[in-house]
Amino acid sequence: MSRKILILPGDGIGPEVMVHAVRVLELARDRYGFDLEVEHALVGGAAIDAHGEPLPEATLKLAKAADAVLLGAVGGPKWDALPTAQRPERGLLGLRSGLELFANLRPAILFPQLAQASSLKPELVAGLDILILRELTGGIYFGEPRGIDVDPGGNRRGFNTYVYSEPEIRRIARLGFELAGARGKRLCSVDKANVLEVTALWREIVEDEGRNFPDIDLSHMYVDNAAMQLVRAPKQFDVIVTGNMFGDILSDVAAMLTGSLGMLPSAALDASSKGMYEPVHGSAPDIAGQNLANPLATLLSIAMMFRYTFAEAHLAASLEGAVGDVLDAGLRTRDIAQGSVDGIDVVGTDAMADAVIAGFGRRLEAA
Ligand code: IPM
Ligand code: MG
Repeated sequence: MSRKILILPGDGIGPEVMVHAVRVLELARDRYGFDLEVEHALVGGAAIDAHGEPLPEATLKLAKAADAVLLGAVGGPKWDALPTAQRPERGLLGLRSGLELFANLRPAILFPQLAQASSLKPELVAGLDILILRELTGGIYFGEPRGIDVDPGGNRRGFNTYVYSEPEIRRIARLGFELAGARGKRLCSVDKANVLEVTALWREIVEDEGRNFPDIDLSHMYVDNAAMQLVRAPKQFDVIVTGNMFGDILSDVAAMLTGSLGMLPSAALDASSKGMYEPVHGSAPDIAGQNLANPLATLLSIAMMFRYTFAEAHLAASLEGAVGDVLDAGLRTRDIAQGSVDGIDVVGTDAMADAVIAGFGRRLEAA
């Protein structure tokens, strides 16, 4: 059975890290018999330049036909002046909603080799392994009505709608319990139930869904407190489940605890585990095209793809293991080299990717 994988390099450092993604996939095919077809399409600023819109119909069609999508990053200063509805980010949001990718898994794992790179004291973050599960197709990002209008007094007024239906809350809550069940068995649901009705409902439904998962230790936390706890004592968390906007914010906080955005993968899944996988780091236009980008988040995103969409745990573990090996060997891209000591070798995007890919190949041969 051949799997269709769509590559969307996007903007900024997206294309230069995605080149290496293709090499990993080809290696999995050649050495492991992971049968696949790779296609490419445009999204974000690249699609605006070529077709005048961030998510061309053809791209969405290919994404719908694919088993998995690998996305680089979208956006950059070149398109900053465009109105919200035409910006590169719309391409990303359109893919999320068009593919019904309601579940965003954002792990924040601190590789022991990088404890020095965190902005928190090593003892607070050593061994950190948390998973933020962010609802991705609802909440204030997509709620209607939205817009900017003029009130009777002639003043402009901007508005968005924060709305969640019971089924939307239930499905993300259920996944949160399932994911917690497969790891530390603790789920913390984050809301603002003391102020916002929509999240009072959220809390009620999560609580109710929890009755089906008696072995999971469920807690609730207000989002302001959760932000504080993440920087005070992050290891208290196992899985955090929250809505779209709170998840956007908290996942950046959690990412920083690990020392580098350049290390973090993410998955956005639909109800049947089809997924879009992307590094958390964004397009980083300031370093694009300079062989400075950290390719590890992209490579780790492919590992998530192997695990969650294709149930290929061995491929996932081999690739993650190869990343660990190069860190052990002292290789660092510039973003994860701060605070490092002797025996560190600062390398560029290509050399880092080459080392991981060589190690991945060796691990596949050995198996
Ligand atoms: C993210 C990003 C996006 C979001 C932007 C680029 C639209 O910040 O994936 O976290 O807000 O979801
Ligand atoms: Mg974000």
